[in-house]
Amino acid sequence: MKAMGGFITLEGLDGAGTTTQARMLQNVLEHMGINAVLSSEPTSGPVGSLIRQILAGRVNGRHATGMDAMFDRKALALLFAADRLDHCETFIKPLQKQGFIVISDRYLHSSLAYQTQDAEWDWVVTINKYAVQPDLVVFLDVAPEVAMSRIEGRGAGREIFENLGFQQHVMDAYHKALDLLADENKLIVNGEAPKEDVHSEILQRVLEQFNR
Ligand code: TYD
Repeated sequence: MKAMGGFITLEGLDGAGTTTQARMLQNVLEHMGINAVLSSEPTSGPVGSLIRQILAGRVNGRHATGMDAMFDRKALALLFAADRLDHCETFIKPLQKQGFIVISDRYLHSSLAYQTQDAEWDWVVTINKYAVQPDLVVFLDVAPEVAMSRIEGRGAGREIFENLGFQQHVMDAYHKALDLLADENKLIVNGEAPKEDVHSEILQRVLEQFNR
């Protein structure tokens, strides 16, 4: 019998290590002969590419007067939700049906954590209503100060959300979102631990949860 697919998301502040851990997880599952695919949000699709340009400050709003303005944050929330639905229909659902474990570097809980700074919680939930729910949300718990010092260490240009005040809001909102999840749908890991230890903890849980 073909194994049932699954859907795992990795979440955390900027600099928490979601990309590293998502890659390590997919890699080891594949080496174990388990069908696992990696994905991420914002996606590399048309809406995701636009989002990345907005985050980098390369696409702005423009007033009728011709003056540059910040791209509207609620409109950005809608773009994240649109990118997600496209991601669900074109990638997540079809691959799950084929028996793959889909691993997404960020997903729905990023919107609950980030977009609720500029829009009401319930509205962000509503615009994401049709997004499939993950089986397991892995949260990499890293203090905002640690996350910021990792971002500074990267030396690359800052994205619009990468400042300490915003990251503190993101942390509070993540905890609110995690509180709403049942224990079987979440794993909170100390993201300040060595990356191999973080990886082992995630892998152990994934193997248990998906009977692999
Ligand atoms: P990130 O994974 O940090 O991309 P990269 O490391 O390649 O820059 O994601 C980009 C940013 O987008 C990050 O600050 C989190 C933010 N984000 C949201 O605000 N809402 C969302 O729904 C998602 C998926 C991401």
